[in-house]
Amino acid sequence: MKENIVWHNTSVSHDDRVQLNGHRPALLWYTGLSGSGKSTIANAVDRKLFEKGCHTYLLDGDNVRHGLNKDLGFDDDSRVENIRRITEVAKLFTDAGLIVGTAFISPFIADREQAREIAGTHFVEVFVDTPLEVCEQRDPKGLYKKARAGDIPHFTGISSPYEAPENPEVHLKTDEMSVEEAADQVVSYLVQKGIIG
Ligand code: ADX
Repeated sequence: MKENIVWHNTSVSHDDRVQLNGHRPALLWYTGLSGSGKSTIANAVDRKLFEKGCHTYLLDGDNVRHGLNKDLGFDDDSRVENIRRITEVAKLFTDAGLIVGTAFISPFIADREQAREIAGTHFVEVFVDTPLEVCEQRDPKGLYKKARAGDIPHFTGISSPYEAPENPEVHLKTDEMSVEEAADQVVSYLVQKGIIG
């Protein structure tokens, strides 16, 4: 805590917000390779939760890098800072009572574990497990092709590591299921844990 800076309690409490919303907050932390389907699945879950009347928000990798994190690149330090800022923003949204989805590669175990610690809410690590070969074959943005040609340095899965989750709360094997089924698996987890009714 910085000197001369004092934490203020707010007049509307976290519990007040939970009561008004009718569900508990959570942080759905999607992790997986570029092109694995994180954004697609996170959006499908967000839509399902929205239609159930839940209060949600989605923080998406490419979008956040256009604004809040536009000063960051893809070297290891930048990725660590990328995840740190996203975690703090997600924490504000969950404190406001929302079910927040974050869709970032977030390749390092240590950063995801730090996010789990900082979040201070129900943290759900969702492993979007799509084999590299499949991501590379899809290559929706043409980035794998460029990375293989050496035009993009530090590309995850090619020239920068991806540390897969060891014990994710939700494990989506996307080559064995549809987007719809994957989204249902996430929503079922939230029901099972009593986060939503
Ligand atoms: S993270 O590693 O810091 O979590 P993030 O999810 O924000 O990454 O951004 C990943 C997206 O940025 C990819 O889906 C891709 O579109 C783009 N991108 C550009 N350069 C790289 C790179 N070197 N490695 C991975 N993704 C990259």
